[in-house]
Amino acid sequence: PDYTITVSPGATGAAIPRSMYGVFFEDINYAADGGLYAELVRNRSFEFNATDAAGYTGLTAWTTSGSATVVNDDQRLHERNRNYLKLSGAAGVTNAGYNTGLAVARSEHYNFSVWARADAAATLDITLQTADGAALSAPLKVAVSGDTWKKYTGTLRATATSDAARLSVKASGATTLRLDEISLFPRDTYKGRANGLRKDLAQKIADLDPGFVRFPGGCLVNTGSMYPYDAANNYPRARSYQWKDTVGPVETRATNKNFWGYNQTYGLGYYEYFQFSEDIGAMPLPVVPALVTGCGQNRATVDEALLQKHIQDTLDLIEFANGPVTTTWGKLRADMGHPKPFGLTTIGVGNEENLPEEYWANFLKFEAAIKAKHPTITVVSNSGPDDQGGTFENLWAKNRAHGSDMVDEHYYNSPSWFLQNNKRYDSYDRNGPKVFLGEYASLDNKLFNSLAEAAYMTGLERNADVVKMASYAPLLANIDNVQWKPDMIWFDNDESWGSTSYQVQKLFMNNVGDKVIPTTTTGDVVRPKPITGGIGLSTWRTAAAYDDVKVTRPDGSVLFSDDFSDGNADGWSAVQPRGTWSVTNGAYTQTDTAAEDTMVKAATISETDYDYTLKATKTA
Ligand code: AHR
Repeated sequence: PDYTITVSPGATGAAIPRSMYGVFFEDINYAADGGLYAELVRNRSFEFNATDAAGYTGLTAWTTSGSATVVNDDQRLHERNRNYLKLSGAAGVTNAGYNTGLAVARSEHYNFSVWARADAAATLDITLQTADGAALSAPLKVAVSGDTWKKYTGTLRATATSDAARLSVKASGATTLRLDEISLFPRDTYKGRANGLRKDLAQKIADLDPGFVRFPGGCLVNTGSMYPYDAANNYPRARSYQWKDTVGPVETRATNKNFWGYNQTYGLGYYEYFQFSEDIGAMPLPVVPALVTGCGQNRATVDEALLQKHIQDTLDLIEFANGPVTTTWGKLRADMGHPKPFGLTTIGVGNEENLPEEYWANFLKFEAAIKAKHPTITVVSNSGPDDQGGTFENLWAKNRAHGSDMVDEHYYNSPSWFLQNNKRYDSYDRNGPKVFLGEYASLDNKLFNSLAEAAYMTGLERNADVVKMASYAPLLANIDNVQWKPDMIWFDNDESWGSTSYQVQKLFMNNVGDKVIPTTTTGDVVRPKPITGGIGLSTWRTAAAYDDVKVTRPDGSVLFSDDFSDGNADGWSAVQPRGTWSVTNGAYTQTDTAAEDTMVKAATISETDYDYTLKATKTA
């Protein structure tokens, strides 16, 4: 091909930070429970609940024999761990684990533990079994004595390899036994940590050599009911993600409904996230809820006291991560095993907020409180919904005028979008807020997608003076429980494999340069073909009206536009067909609040116009 790339090694380009490429961990696709978190027992504390998912009960994943019931009364193990299992006489339970069952490997050791009390001396018989009840381990016998809660432990050794094992716990003796937090971990967790991580998955993430770990979500963070954390509401299900739910001894952690439709035990919690980040040499980057729910929910809290509580929780989180052991939360960190600070430097406030005004008001309060106490902490704001090549309700203008430290952008798009938008950041204000590309992926797990991502990452790196961090999303997917794809690493009970996007991320992360060497190209470079298809705007679940929809070229000239003043839809139509819409009073109006809607129009974007911007004015 007759084109030339001229490299200017002597010239000074942008420095590339070590934290340029990282990972975004969210408990989606069973990424935590049944995934990275190595616990093999599902519903170990009998807390599953129909609000978590239809059909869930305190006995989900368990089968019983004899008199075995789940009880919620004042004999409970802990006020946040409300249910327990009551066995009377010769009775027992068997756990089926996640997906096909518990994954065990021949000759490997497994750490069993249970909290128990009994009104007379009793013995528990614990074994690994096949689904048909054949033994997969020698029995472990645990003698329970005394009617106060105590933790009992022991070890099982698997006699054969299986990805469909069962854990059987049987009581003998004419006693009443109360059991809770029945747990089984492989002895061999990542770095041998107690309450640790599944080794193959953690190793695959470590092999990426990520510069940071963004956690714990995603939609997981700021969605759900805006209930407080305290017992006054009986730890209601679907409360938003609150880090204090997730720390302290695991048997005292309240479980919750996961935004993605299952139960989250919080066994993998904030301490474990910080520890894992440290173990793999990555910067921890937590995201706290800003109490404006995005991800299709569109509600903002009107409870100022609750908002202030969350702001205080955020300050407490910084104390948990960085504070001396003499402070309340620094002491908890030390009690959990890490007296040294975790070195938190950066924190995100909110995720994909669909109510920009409400989010912005809350963000300013969070930011002011954080900066007042911790002026050197980088506070990451949001760009608002839908910044895929064009925006509406975008918060960038506010962030620029305000001088936010950094702005989190998200987009999932076609491979051609990534190829066409390589120059996205070339025109960003060099003196404005820095960019954290917190979530992006080209929409499939094929080779072409990963090549498009790789090409796009060269554009991120070229703009390393503006784009400071980027993370592909989501990170993990359990093949039997997929809520979102594409994903970077896939797994089942005992195997895991990286997608081609994983290989691209690994290549870039393991080869982060020190600085950009400026290059110029001349000649007949390959250009993307014209896009023939459609152009679309997502309206989410609001009864909103939009007017003056415009597609503009980089120079501001209009490619095409509609102001709907003639009362015609002008070629726009609705897809995601649950939405109902009309063109009235000079605006395109979505009337259905139950479903998100996308308005589309057929269009051809020529190769010279591919840096277009799509913008709509919200009128109501
Ligand atoms: O990565 C999956 C989801 O995509 C995240 O939870 C959310 O932030 C985004 O919409």
